[in-house]
Amino acid sequence: LKKVGILTSGGDAPGMNAAIRAVVRAAICSNMEVVGIMQGFHGMINNIVEPMNSRSVSNIIHKGGTILKSARSQEFRTPEGRKQAFDNLVENGIDSLVVIGGDGTFNGARIFSSECNIPIVGIPGTIDNDLYGTDYTIGYDTALNTVVEAVDKIRDTAHAHSRIFFVEVMGRDAGFLALRSGIASGAEAILVPEIDMDYKQLYEYLEKGHNKDKSSSIVIVAEGEKINGGAIMLSEKIKKEYPSFDPRVTILGHIQRGGSPSAFDRVTASRMGVSAIEALNDGQRNVMLGLVNKEITLIPFNQALKHKKQLNPGLLELTRVLSI
Ligand code: F6P
Repeated sequence: LKKVGILTSGGDAPGMNAAIRAVVRAAICSNMEVVGIMQGFHGMINNIVEPMNSRSVSNIIHKGGTILKSARSQEFRTPEGRKQAFDNLVENGIDSLVVIGGDGTFNGARIFSSECNIPIVGIPGTIDNDLYGTDYTIGYDTALNTVVEAVDKIRDTAHAHSRIFFVEVMGRDAGFLALRSGIASGAEAILVPEIDMDYKQLYEYLEKGHNKDKSSSIVIVAEGEKINGGAIMLSEKIKKEYPSFDPRVTILGHIQRGGSPSAFDRVTASRMGVSAIEALNDGQRNVMLGLVNKEITLIPFNQALKHKKQLNPGLLELTRVLSI
């Protein structure tokens, strides 16, 4: 392989830049040229590319976002869009790809490679941590710390006013961020898309704590929690039916996607970036890198996309024990 293209796609995540840096430098070390494809698959279709060298990735290891920019491309879902993308790769002499993103990115990559026969290696980057085949995705650890820092501040005011706070965190389809940040911030309850708990059950649960002289409570709600319709609706229902509670809502939003990556995310990104180039040179294709039991692993896109990653039931149980 002579020339590798690299792109970031889907929701950005802190640590993507550290991964880009590692891919670029590892490729150069193995005598490959590197081309940055801007704005994910959109840039591949529209031929927005930039040659990269080791200086292109100087001073980015500590930066959030992605220097390659990101996008969600509708056009790449069409055979015509993918054909145009492939023609551009051929024109640029790009013979392999490293794609950094989440399940949408890898699904696009999987279809593309089956049509165009180009080796692709994926690096999991999403704050949602919802990819089967890896214990951690790049960005998840940083987002966790961002949430915990915010909830610590909310806890101060919740306690001062003896209030209940519903804090909505990201996770459209998955509760990993909610569950772990909830435990780390000592939440009284955690609502995730994977498990149904309606507002009446939640009230009864919180009421038990109040009967034991708890004056304030923190409830972490994943944005994909469907049964109550998210933190705002949940708060309104509780307020209407149980006027003894005076709830407040904080939606953390995109603050969770930005910021300087944690040391853990930087190290994971660096390891995966180097392994991506090794995997391509070893003849691997259409695989996603993972971090499983602290070791770097490979899993075919097909397998990673076929399975739904499960929440750790032990962590869910922990909240019940720790929030009495
Ligand atoms: O990055 C993942 C994620 O944060 C989801 O949890 C969230 O629903 C989604 O991205 C929102 O992304 P966007 O604002 O780019 O549509």
